[in-house]
Amino acid sequence: MRNRLLKLLERHNAKVLAIICSTFGDSGKGKFADLVAEEWADIIIRGTGGANAGHTIWVNGQKHVVHMLPSGILHDKDGKVNIIGSGTAFDPYVFSKEQNTIRRSGGTFSNFYISHRAHLLLPQHKVMDRVRESNATEGKIGTTGQGIGPCYTDHYARIGLTANDLFNKDVFVWKLKRNLEDKIKLLRLVDPELVKYVMQHEDLESGEYYSARDIFNVDAIVNRYVMQHGLALNEYITDTDELVRKARGKQNILLEGAQGNLLSVDYGTYPYVTSTDCTVGNLAKGAGLREGDVDLTFAIAKAYMTRVGGGPFPTELGGERAAQWRSAPGMNRLREIAELGDVSINSDDEFEQGVALRIEGEEYGATTGRLRGVGWFCAATQRYSNRLNGRVFLMPITKLDVLSKFKRLKVCRALRYNGPDYRVGNLRIRKGHEFSELLPDSEVLRYCEPIYDEMPGWNCEIDKTDNKLPLETINYIRHIEQQTGASTGILSLGKDRNETYVM
Ligand code: GDP
Ligand code: IMO
Ligand code: MG
Repeated sequence: MRNRLLKLLERHNAKVLAIICSTFGDSGKGKFADLVAEEWADIIIRGTGGANAGHTIWVNGQKHVVHMLPSGILHDKDGKVNIIGSGTAFDPYVFSKEQNTIRRSGGTFSNFYISHRAHLLLPQHKVMDRVRESNATEGKIGTTGQGIGPCYTDHYARIGLTANDLFNKDVFVWKLKRNLEDKIKLLRLVDPELVKYVMQHEDLESGEYYSARDIFNVDAIVNRYVMQHGLALNEYITDTDELVRKARGKQNILLEGAQGNLLSVDYGTYPYVTSTDCTVGNLAKGAGLREGDVDLTFAIAKAYMTRVGGGPFPTELGGERAAQWRSAPGMNRLREIAELGDVSINSDDEFEQGVALRIEGEEYGATTGRLRGVGWFCAATQRYSNRLNGRVFLMPITKLDVLSKFKRLKVCRALRYNGPDYRVGNLRIRKGHEFSELLPDSEVLRYCEPIYDEMPGWNCEIDKTDNKLPLETINYIRHIEQQTGASTGILSLGKDRNETYVM
């Protein structure tokens, strides 16, 4: 596998490789980034998003999940450079917790840098995110609560802080006060008990930043962020864009994306998206490069599809019933298994099939533990997504092993609109309109039904080591390639680094 991976990268003259997700996140970016970091990359950079990401890495039966750190961090002891780039929403609180965990696994942080221009994520961002989500009635986005939206909003409103402000206390204080002004005014309009409740959350250090009189305790924020985090981060914060520009062409650079194309604020299913553009162009920018610098992109797709949080998901198994089930108050993995753990993956009831697939694929959020909606692979979605991927890309497929028990499989070939008359640009959409390519408009997608192709499953365990794939598995991959016009190049047959098949 190692040699084939290196050959594949050589064939594409790759010096800069980007790893992103084709759809709604959680496709296995962490697994791939860790693998490529071990075998090929000299420098690994996170360029977008923040601690809303949850990237899982399995090594020798041990699970690691990183939210803020690049997935190459387990290799920093081998001299690999890891960077949190200028496009990220950098959360010092999550970082310090993660750093402690990774240090226990041998991480040294001796080749680690944070961009001085990274957007600083502070307690008020989490407060605003959570209060807004708690108050939302219709159209809840279902954010991760990590403060991502408010942090990027501040950036565009030109009232944000950057990692560099941690160096200069006086500047930090006046910028912080300016940043809090509007938020305090807004929060005064909200039920004080809700604000207090939100602030007691563990992620907000259990009330540390709460002031009954002023809502935010400015001194507590300054003390924790400038005096403690700032000092600890002192040696890491630098001009990483310059570092990356200098390395371009000389060293192997891996750009690790977060979220997925369909969650992009610019190209995704707005407003049910995150607050950054998660496509390769913005990833390159957030890492200190340009899209044209990227030689090859791995736009990873799952062998089926998942989506966590709100927003339309036409191929979700069980449809509306499934969406309600997974967002029910108090729902979690243990409760699902206790109540429905015995349903069959080959049930005639799509809702039950979906539950069984979620359990089989362990589709529970790496950041929030929420149930991910699960559904069939959607070629219409993928065709749209592929257009966002830049010059040269492959579409590695992950989690093929999870489909092993299905007797029959479906792939969505097109989406059929079934809602009221609606206009998008010059397009007048009526009932029965078919989309061979997803239209990224949530008002259209919420009324779209999938049109499926069906095929036999392989209905046996895939041998993850000898690389002899069952004929039905090969046919499934060929069908996906033919339907989407993309080459897969790499197949992932299990969660471990070694369970990977490079074609
Ligand atoms: P990311 O956000 O794209 O890094 O993906 P996540 O880590 O959130 O979710 C992917 C999940 O699938 C993780 O639990 C991985 O360990 C797991 N995974 C990745 N590839 C495979 C695979 O080929 N087979 C199986 N069974 N699990 C996989
Ligand atoms: P990785 O990098 C899956 C989703 C949330 C919500 C929406 C907005 O692990 O693939 P946010 O907190 O960003 O404001 O939430 O985006 N979301 C993700 N879904 N994987 C992720 O990251 C996600 N990051 C955000 O569930 O629907
Ligand atoms: Mg994830």
